[in-house]
Amino acid sequence: MGIYHCFGCQEGGDVIQFIRKIENLDYVDAVKLLAQKAGMTIPENSFDQGSSRLRQRIYEANRETARFYVKALYTPEGKEALNYLLERKLTPKTITHFGLGYSPKSRFALVNHLKSKGFSSTEMIQANLANQSQKGYPYDRFTDRVMFPIIDLQKRVIAFGGRIMSDIKPKYLNTSDTPVFSKSRNLFALQFAKNEAHGQLILVEGYMDVIALHQAGFQNAVATLGTALTKEQATLLKRYCDEIVICYDADRAGQTATARAIDILRPTGLNIKILTVPDGKDPDEFIKSHGDQGAARFRMLLEKCGNDIDYRMNKLRSNYDMDVTLQRVSFLTEAAKLLSTLDNSIERDVYISKLSEELNVDKNAIKQQVDKSMRRQARDSIQKLQKDIQRDLISGSKQRSPSEQGFSLRLVSTEEALVAILFTDPDIALELFRTTSPELFQSDFHQRIFRLMKSRADEGLEFGITDISDSLTDQEMNRLSGILSSHPREDDPKAAVKAYLEILREEKEKLTPEEIAKADDETLLEQIRRLRNKKQ
Ligand code: UTP
Ligand code: MN
Repeated sequence: MGIYHCFGCQEGGDVIQFIRKIENLDYVDAVKLLAQKAGMTIPENSFDQGSSRLRQRIYEANRETARFYVKALYTPEGKEALNYLLERKLTPKTITHFGLGYSPKSRFALVNHLKSKGFSSTEMIQANLANQSQKGYPYDRFTDRVMFPIIDLQKRVIAFGGRIMSDIKPKYLNTSDTPVFSKSRNLFALQFAKNEAHGQLILVEGYMDVIALHQAGFQNAVATLGTALTKEQATLLKRYCDEIVICYDADRAGQTATARAIDILRPTGLNIKILTVPDGKDPDEFIKSHGDQGAARFRMLLEKCGNDIDYRMNKLRSNYDMDVTLQRVSFLTEAAKLLSTLDNSIERDVYISKLSEELNVDKNAIKQQVDKSMRRQARDSIQKLQKDIQRDLISGSKQRSPSEQGFSLRLVSTEEALVAILFTDPDIALELFRTTSPELFQSDFHQRIFRLMKSRADEGLEFGITDISDSLTDQEMNRLSGILSSHPREDDPKAAVKAYLEILREEKEKLTPEEIAKADDETLLEQIRRLRNKKQ
């Protein structure tokens, strides 16, 4: 890897350090950037070549441990644990399927076993299977608990959760993060669920909920590992389904977690549904309490659960007293705001109708309110866009508009905003026709609109939407009116145009992913320097 020397501060270092310094990227991102440049892909979490031997040993120790715990479950000492599981209505088959086990009471049962199998104290401690005593020797981390192995998608044992059989806290003890385990990047039972998803995964809170659901035939259930849902887990889920049913506990903590999970999941574009289990039960308790009927009843809940708009609408409604006119109006305003976040116009319409019936308010009045809220949001997002120069370090990196494959979202939205101004401000439009060329736009469609308008203007003709409509297909007209309706007249169109032109100029300067793959170090660093200067 090349060496750089910073003349300003007399600092030397490698390229990664340099990039990290000027971009504030963390090490992993800096390496990814360089790898992308070189046309390589880096598998997640596998850079740590130096410790790959240790990782291998930890996988082996974990597997040996899982076997040890399973065996222990069927010894006299494990009888209580086995009975505990059977009393919780798990079948012997389920217990085997999930590899459940028992960690013996002795503080050295596992440590001694692993020692006899040739594992070192360091390996046991690094695997978080053992803790280190003050005197330096290892002792078992898990004692007298029912053990749940956590298995990754390659079927490797990566961690354990251990449940105590009494009321002593903590109820569950989990493996801390180790060189092979990150609790924020894995999900319990995904190794089974991914094959049974058929488009839908159920997200629950607890290990026992997952196991009870799988036993009842819902093998598409997964759980987080004792933490709130993370972005990484959301991305992982997205890989295996189109729809998530969040089925958290009905208590306060569960509801807060639900709202948080929705926020994390929404950007993935996954369809989100919320299943609320009645009577404050968790899924495991619900299924158990209905005996033979458990699975069928849960299936009914699953079928009738609404998407998150329903859920949020219900929550919203509960904050208002519908018998008080003023409160009804406030509710309506908030509800309109909520509906304006729906991308799908049909879905929007359905909810508008529902509201109209419920509140006995004219449907069009509600629709207007929703439209107003949508326009405000469009305006806010453009303002955000202008401020957001820092984002999208490299063009085309992440987000793509489906209609404009290959262009960054930032580019497309900016071009659209400019197109809208052409229609709302004829004076500015004339000025732009004079001073810029259609190539200002990278999208073919936007270029075409610009040309159509300009050629009419050049002949002294009107160039409004109706004037050019003859030259557009129905589909193009739809697209254009979509753009116009989501971009209301700007407060200060001149200033806006200036900002947009600046953004378009910047976007042109950015390298495409193909160019990044081919660029040499110098070009890449130059590009990063340029972007950095812009930020200041
Ligand atoms: P729950 O208490 O809802 O779990 O905690 P559960 O599976 O329903 O437990 P049972 O039915 O009482 O056996 C949800 C999850 O939060 C984590 C565990 O992953 C648990 O499954 N948790 C909970 C901990 O990590 N530590 C704890 O002390 C409690
Ligand atoms: Mn439970």
